[in-house]
Amino acid sequence: MEILRHVVVLLHLVGFAILFGAWVAEAVSRRIRFTRVMDWGLALAGLAGLILAAPWGIEYELNYVKLGIKLGILVVIGALLGIGSARQRRTGSLPSAMFWLVGILTLTNAAIAVLW
Ligand code: HEM
Repeated sequence: MEILRHVVVLLHLVGFAILFGAWVAEAVSRRIRFTRVMDWGLALAGLAGLILAAPWGIEYELNYVKLGIKLGILVVIGALLGIGSARQRRTGSLPSAMFWLVGILTLTNAAIAVLW
């Protein structure tokens, strides 16, 4: 059970790496745009996160305030990616605030996970 949980943590981290890596790749290339890879990373991190939010394979209490905040941030990132991608398709460009917010909020969620 514990090893299975660790596998799900690994998938959660892979999702984070895909989302944040895809975002950094665009940022350093000075391309203010969202890509499908970001959606896949968010979906994987979110799905694995929800599975981890259930208390199995651990002997300690989960911090549900922390998890609730992470879930809220994930929903905001999802909304930004969804609305931003639609706008990008329609107008050909993305407001830079939406782009930067996705990177900042993704890093914020990782920081909450590690530092709280
Ligand atoms: C973009 C969204 C997210 C990012 C970037 C993210 C990032 C991370 C990172 C980097 C860790 C590893 C922390 C460590 O091992 O010290 C972690 C762990 C964890 N995350 Fe997330 N997370 C996200 C969303 C979520 C969501 C939505 C949930 C659930 C509501 C969640 C639940 C968890 C749990 C329970 C752990 C601890 C796993 C364990 O050690 O058993 N995460 N997250």
